[in-house]
Amino acid sequence: MTIIDGKKISAEILDEIALEVANMKSAGSKVPHLAAVLVGNDGASETYVAAKVKACDKVGFKSTLIRLKSDTTEKELLETVDKLNKDKDIDGFIVQLPLPRHISDQKIIESIAPQKDVDGFHPSNVGRMALNLPTYLPATPFGILKLLERYKIETAGKHCVVVGRSNIVGSPISILLARNSYPGNCTVTLTHSKTKNIAEITRTADILVVALGKPGFVTGTMVKEGAVVIDVGITRMPSSQTKSGYKLFGDVNYEEVAPKCSFITPVPGGVGPMTIVSLLTNTLKACKKEIYS
Ligand code: GUN
Repeated sequence: MTIIDGKKISAEILDEIALEVANMKSAGSKVPHLAAVLVGNDGASETYVAAKVKACDKVGFKSTLIRLKSDTTEKELLETVDKLNKDKDIDGFIVQLPLPRHISDQKIIESIAPQKDVDGFHPSNVGRMALNLPTYLPATPFGILKLLERYKIETAGKHCVVVGRSNIVGSPISILLARNSYPGNCTVTLTHSKTKNIAEITRTADILVVALGKPGFVTGTMVKEGAVVIDVGITRMPSSQTKSGYKLFGDVNYEEVAPKCSFITPVPGGVGPMTIVSLLTNTLKACKKEIYS
């Protein structure tokens, strides 16, 4: 059994990006510039955005954080997005989700220029992904592809079972792993809350991707001997065993499942560290006009 080390792979890719940025700088080119918009002060969003800004510093990107109050109106946020769409110095930007309830996430996503949508959430970019056209891939699925690739995991002809059909993980990873590409060419089954006999299906998976948000949902008896298991779940639970007072749990019961696997991602330290790398990779592509010229 091999534990897929997302920390190590993400550090390697960050080094590769930093080297490329250093080369761009010394050639006198503009360095990538990412902006992040944070509305309100949700604790988890604050942490995620701070990590994104810190990662920009680490690789030599410019970054701009725009903080807006929680009572910002939808119209005001649309005006901020419009300014960022038009700002020539900003290569890409994200609006951290979820937004306060009085603002429509979807309306905001659709107002972002697809050329600058480094989250890959705009319907245009989602459509391009489904058509296997060059685009910005959403962070978590992109991170999963990178892990499969860097560990040289064979995917062609494999049965991949995805648990969970969210717009940001389950649905896109099912599309990506079915594409005629590497990683890809899987036979994909997408399962969800209405699926019957889910354990019978997960037991047939060569590659099992779990993105449900239910700690410990996948038990040992639900996994085939030799399977590749990718655990996207990351739920914070109160714990007396840690200094911080909480512990992170994946969707997979690691103790039961790991001994049966050929490869498995731990939580934390598996898929999680890869997501910021994906955002930076997309921002670098935006700066180099690799997707949209
Ligand atoms: N909230 C949780 N994950 C994400 C993400 O990848 N992008 C944005 N914009 N918001 C998020």
